[in-house]
Amino acid sequence: MAKQYDVAVIGAGAAGMMCAAVAAQRGKRVMLIDHAEKLAEKIRISGGGRCNFTNINAAPQHFLSENPHFCKSALSRYTAQDFLALVKKYRIAHHEKHRGQLFCDESSEQIIAMLKSECEKGGVNWRMPCKVESVSKVEEGFVVATDHGEIEASSVVIATGGLSIPKIGATDLGYRIATQFGLPLVEPRPGLVPLTFDGPSWAPFVPLAGIALEVEVSTGSGKGKNAKKGHFREDLLFTHRGLSGPAILQISSYWQPGTPIVLNLLPEMDVAEELIAGKTTIKKQLGNVLAGWLPARLVDGLLLANGFAPDARLADMPDAKLRKLGDAINRWAIVPTGSEGYRKAEVTLGGVDTRALSQQTMMAKDVPGLYFIGETVDVTGWLGGYNFQWAWASGFVAGQSV
Ligand code: FDA
Repeated sequence: MAKQYDVAVIGAGAAGMMCAAVAAQRGKRVMLIDHAEKLAEKIRISGGGRCNFTNINAAPQHFLSENPHFCKSALSRYTAQDFLALVKKYRIAHHEKHRGQLFCDESSEQIIAMLKSECEKGGVNWRMPCKVESVSKVEEGFVVATDHGEIEASSVVIATGGLSIPKIGATDLGYRIATQFGLPLVEPRPGLVPLTFDGPSWAPFVPLAGIALEVEVSTGSGKGKNAKKGHFREDLLFTHRGLSGPAILQISSYWQPGTPIVLNLLPEMDVAEELIAGKTTIKKQLGNVLAGWLPARLVDGLLLANGFAPDARLADMPDAKLRKLGDAINRWAIVPTGSEGYRKAEVTLGGVDTRALSQQTMMAKDVPGLYFIGETVDVTGWLGGYNFQWAWASGFVAGQSV
């Protein structure tokens, strides 16, 4: 028997709207369902309201997954250039901010309006706000039970995103449906998130909130295929609860609880060598020397944390102590207490295990007609427009296949 719809897409965010538009423009009868009052809140708040909608350098190495090759197919079939072409077609003024990151000049609302218009072009049907209660398999299709009645569809696409920012509507529905249909999950955890620190060793850095500087940061271990190592050179920001800024958001996705992150606060300089070489010629206090290279308040914190008197003179310092201080600046290993969690995380790592999905179509290998796209899936991008590119690409390939 013919179903009411060819496709029901659950979640009208970045991936869901892209998928619905592509499927509808292929002539499919599409129903797009979302429980939120306001459309695509995450796109609206993204990029500080200007939506970093893609990264022109997006490539598989910018994504984390237990199955790192999975994202290649979708990313190559729908590229950053493809999305950019759509943005240009809608005459949305944009600019490159930093390392390939493309932002709207005016507002992220323009991206939402563009996707809505692409959905309208194909005649997508909307049910919003509408709460999804369950999804069940019936002969040749699915029934989606909602608080506005049942929807029958030949295929169902789950595009409900991750757990980040629950106050704007994030839920675990995608994971629950995956589990219901027997798909494994890679344990979800917050990514692109500020890290928190406390205890006596952090006390000297508590007053530094607001200080920002460019650093190198790294974490992780392992070799070859199983390596989970991150290394970034970006800005670091001291906060009231610990550390944030792009450097920390990036490294947070690689960080494992209980392990250290390693900061190089002066990547251009071997601090110990410079200090030892300066001992005979520089007649200043150690703090004043360092304040020529680092913010003065940070220098105070570093001297205190490493047991140096504030008025210590460089010329009086034994080389061994200067080496220790050099290490504390060039190789500062600190163990975060935790992270600010889903309340502040820009993304959710983990999700539906991609080994259970087709990389060409995003369909569950063992459940014909059931698709998972976007952040619900265990593919997570770096900071910088990569996560939207994954949403567009995975939404596109599913939209072509349903
Ligand atoms: P998304 O979260 O976009 O959509 C999921 C949809 O499903 C929502 O509309 C939600 O209401 C709906 N839903 C959830 N549960 C449901 C249920 N039970 N029933 C019905 N509907 C349900 N990325 C980037 O590339 N550039 C950037 O500039 C930013 N900036 C940014 C800022 C902030 C503050 C955050 C939190 C995140 C970003 N991101 C980002 C990440 C990016 O927003 C994110 O990766 C994508 O929106 C993911 O797209 P999805 O479509 O998968 O989920």
